[in-house]
Amino acid sequence: MSKSKAKSATFYNIGQLRLDCWNKLKVATSELARGTQAKADIKKCLATSEQLFKDLKEVEHYFAFPGLTRLENVENMLKRAEFMALANKVSDITRQLVSDGYRGNPEKLDEDDLSIEKVEAHEQVDGVKKNYFEVLFVGDESKEEEASLRARLKDLRVANEQFEYGVVVQHSFQDALIALLFNYNIQAVVVKYAPSYSSENITPIIEPYIQNALKLDYSSHEETDLGPILGSLIKTLRPELDTYYITDTSLGNLKDSTIKNFKRIFYNTEDLQELHLTIVRGISERYQTPFFSALKEYSQKPTGVFHAMPISRGNSVFKSRWINDFGEFYGRNMFLAETSATTGGLDSLLQPTGPLKKAQEMARDTYGSKQTFFVTNGTSTANKIVMQALVKPGDVVMIDRDCHKSHHYGLVLSGAYPVYLDSYPIEEYSMYGAVPLEQIKRKMLQLESAGRLSKVKMLLLTNCTFDGLVYNVERVMEEVLAIKPDMIFLWDEAWFAFAGFTYNYKQRTGMFTANRLATKYKSSAYKKQYTKHIGSLKVGELPKMPDPDKVRIRVYSTQSTHKTLSSFRQGSMIHIWDEDFKRKSESTFLEAYMTHTSTSPNYQMLASLDVGRRQVQFEGYELVEKSVELAMVLRAKVNGNPKLSKYFDVLTVEDFIPSQYRQTGLKEYFDKKNGWNRMEEAWELDEFVLDPTKITLNIGRTGVDGDTFKNKYLMDKFNIQINKTSRNTVLFMTNIGTTRGSVTYLTNALLKIADALDEDLLALNDREKEIREKRIHSLTKEVPPLPDFSYFHHSFQAVPGVPGGDLRAAYFLAYNEDNYEYIALNECLPAMEKNRTLVASTFVIPYPPGFPVLVPGQVVSKEIIRFLLALDVSEIHGYRHDLGLRVFKESILDRQKTVSAMGATSRAKK
Ligand SMILES: Cc1ncc(COP(=O)(O)O)c(C=O)c1O
Repeated sequence: MSKSKAKSATFYNIGQLRLDCWNKLKVATSELARGTQAKADIKKCLATSEQLFKDLKEVEHYFAFPGLTRLENVENMLKRAEFMALANKVSDITRQLVSDGYRGNPEKLDEDDLSIEKVEAHEQVDGVKKNYFEVLFVGDESKEEEASLRARLKDLRVANEQFEYGVVVQHSFQDALIALLFNYNIQAVVVKYAPSYSSENITPIIEPYIQNALKLDYSSHEETDLGPILGSLIKTLRPELDTYYITDTSLGNLKDSTIKNFKRIFYNTEDLQELHLTIVRGISERYQTPFFSALKEYSQKPTGVFHAMPISRGNSVFKSRWINDFGEFYGRNMFLAETSATTGGLDSLLQPTGPLKKAQEMARDTYGSKQTFFVTNGTSTANKIVMQALVKPGDVVMIDRDCHKSHHYGLVLSGAYPVYLDSYPIEEYSMYGAVPLEQIKRKMLQLESAGRLSKVKMLLLTNCTFDGLVYNVERVMEEVLAIKPDMIFLWDEAWFAFAGFTYNYKQRTGMFTANRLATKYKSSAYKKQYTKHIGSLKVGELPKMPDPDKVRIRVYSTQSTHKTLSSFRQGSMIHIWDEDFKRKSESTFLEAYMTHTSTSPNYQMLASLDVGRRQVQFEGYELVEKSVELAMVLRAKVNGNPKLSKYFDVLTVEDFIPSQYRQTGLKEYFDKKNGWNRMEEAWELDEFVLDPTKITLNIGRTGVDGDTFKNKYLMDKFNIQINKTSRNTVLFMTNIGTTRGSVTYLTNALLKIADALDEDLLALNDREKEIREKRIHSLTKEVPPLPDFSYFHHSFQAVPGVPGGDLRAAYFLAYNEDNYEYIALNECLPAMEKNRTLVASTFVIPYPPGFPVLVPGQVVSKEIIRFLLALDVSEIHGYRHDLGLRVFKESILDRQKTVSAMGATSRAKK
């Protein structure tokens, strides 16, 4: 491995490498400034500094701050041996970069004294922190033209503007792509007619980080096409950015695709001021938060309250002698913004026409849907809304059984028949993976041969799962639509709201894929491919491509915005990309939305959804990339530290995903020998991938179970919160709020726990050691096998012998207490031995794992009882420890059998 490659392998991304270089330069130059070392050491410091300047020039090329000119000026200090000044400058720049200070004080960028003291003094005098961003100019400018562009743009700035920008100029198509990948500050791109293609700056140091960009080969295209291609790539890679195109081609000669790919086209002859004003206007449009702003404005208006809500404006709180601490805790603004008004500048969520309508439209554009609806009772409610909107009693829904319970309850409410799909089990850690595509297709064929496929309305899958398993959304949709071109997809993306903001993740989301497939199926190239594909099929072979004349793209995704982005608790969204929404589902959707939405939705929550949208538009890419980076660092740290790996290991991609679903063979993101393995290829190709931000720690070797580890070790001793455990694992997550400090704190806590475990071990006597070994054996080896879904009792089967059950009938049958009885868990197996069929009359949901092991109407299998007996958790919803399992009485099942046989005959006839 070359030196540079080795360097790159150490760092997960260019940001880490960049900061490391600056920090090392800071150390080397301060050594030089001290000047007390031996000659040989000075020589070494000089050589190190020279090399670091060389490396940094290759990287800094893509950033406006500190910028190549400043970097060269600083390097000249080294050449002139002005070590003291050099060390100060390097230290200032490093500090600005590490603290992000330069972004709060953009004016300082134009000055050479960047010292933190000066910056702080400036802030105190001038007050405001500005919103800083960078504009990428792509064109063949000479150095002089570039300098003139910068100077002229600087002249156009007006004092006290809220937004301020730096300029990054790239001369080639490839360099522009690299800048877009590396530089989080870029918010607008100006492409000048016909940039050249190839970069002259791709060096071994940056190469590992731009593999995706290098795969995009447009070298054979005419230079005049490159600008528009860049515009369309930005729409895919970073669609939130404003893009502008400068050309000489008259409007009549411009291709439609060029016009569509840019926000605005400028002519070379046009004034630079116009461009400047348009750039700033573009930013201020995205900065708008219609509902949050309306709420702020409303809160400042003097208002007399003569309707509901005594706490509105704090009236019942601040005057109270008994609850004024409540007011003090939340602050006055919270109460000034509490109102039940839907007019006076505010809006109604149930029929929005003003700021809420606008806020939802802005969210729609940000998340790439056709319609977006805010939901104020979490994804639990969002899921029920979508289910009720799209399926009616008697329809069939294919659904992963270990999905969130809201879907099961949604099925009860809607009266649709679930066909349960089993995820592959990860026995060793008492977890489920995800549903293999093969199984989905097999079930579809089974339904087809029973004449029931036409009844199937929806495929519902969890993407990603709590543990981080992510589907190949595109492949699933393609192959399912090839069998059933009108299938509706509901992707439960409760844990995936953040995924829309960086390409690797985005390509595995419902909205992005819906858009991509709809475009693909409309193209003439696809039609040709399809004809060829159909022609090549052998007799009996299933098509893998959908018929372009029949396929309809109908995709819904529900997301708990509050779980992974900035939003108050319960803030969720429903995103819709449904070609048939207006024609087929809008009215039922609105009915379902009315059914579940409060007439008094929480305004603070809605405002937070609006503000959260602004955040991801400006910094989603940066924050998501950084949370992935921190997750990667944590994964590598735990698995690379011998002290930690004595007790813990972070479960790898290989632990979670069997090899047949990992076509690229990626086993883990980091290995000690080769450093970082890039995730790009696996995320493009593999059937399942693991979201690195979900970090599952195997704690089996500590001898402590997951629940105890969470409460007694992490929470009580270190105040570290997590929310998922299994018998022998705990799950950590990084998110857009995770800091480097918190990752260090967690690593430290784990080190301390490892020390404490070492000490405990030393203090044990022989008998205690034996007990401990037994516990470890039980946690690591005696894992209860996870049960599959058994089957619906024939009293509740939609059609005898065909997958699909009448959950609703079973659920409501148990509303009469005479229909069920309890049987103690340890009596279940003996009862079964005596040929009794036990049928659940309620959902039974143990936490963890948190999904129903039994649903109403399901036959209780021996595996399920063994699993429940082996579980050592105390929280099992639907199960009474004192009474036992609630099952239907046998006499009731006989009666129900006759009723349901009549129904089934008529259903089968239909
Ligand atoms: C997959 C999945 N869907 C939906 C939900 C419900 O989301 P919320 O808490 O926003 O109601 C959860 C909650 O954990 C979940 O894990």
